[in-house]
Amino acid sequence: MEKQHIFLIGFMGTGKSTVAGELSRRLEIGQIEMDDEIVKEQGMSINDIFEKYGEAHFRGLESDLLAGLAEKEQMVVSCGGGVVTRSENVECMKKCGRIVLLTARPETVYHRVKDNEERPILKNNMTIEFISGLMEKRRTAYESAADILIETDEKSVLQICEEIMHKMKFSRIRQ
Ligand code: S3P
Repeated sequence: MEKQHIFLIGFMGTGKSTVAGELSRRLEIGQIEMDDEIVKEQGMSINDIFEKYGEAHFRGLESDLLAGLAEKEQMVVSCGGGVVTRSENVECMKKCGRIVLLTARPETVYHRVKDNEERPILKNNMTIEFISGLMEKRRTAYESAADILIETDEKSVLQICEEIMHKMKFSRIRQ
């Protein structure tokens, strides 16, 4: 496998972090969780960053972090659910890696995220309707960015990793 990052993208609650952990273990490469990295760098929670500086500022932090990954050793990158909202982020990921989209039904996402209060976007919007609406708004951005698409509903982490590894072997490798 060539030395390129593996970017896991997808809506909140599609399992990016869990899958990144297992995939990095299987491939014996490093792993990075964008949200955790931003929290560490800023010394603030994602909620506090949104509240104090606003979403646009957070998006800027995401772009800076992604841009800095180009020089790093190959790793699995678990992206924040909103990275695809900026085309410069997608271009940046395409340049230095392959992009794997994880999808799940709104109902599945809702059940996975409903008790977590650390996602400002869902804070006062924790309903299947809202999730479904935002997912639809972002669908084109997710799908056009992706090299590989994996549906995660009713699949185990192991099954998802197998599928990613299988599909990666056959996916077109960018020049
Ligand atoms: C966001 C997703 C979150 C986090 C932030 C915004 C989004 O990441 O970056 O709360 O806009 O979809 P996860 O997808 O890891 O939950």
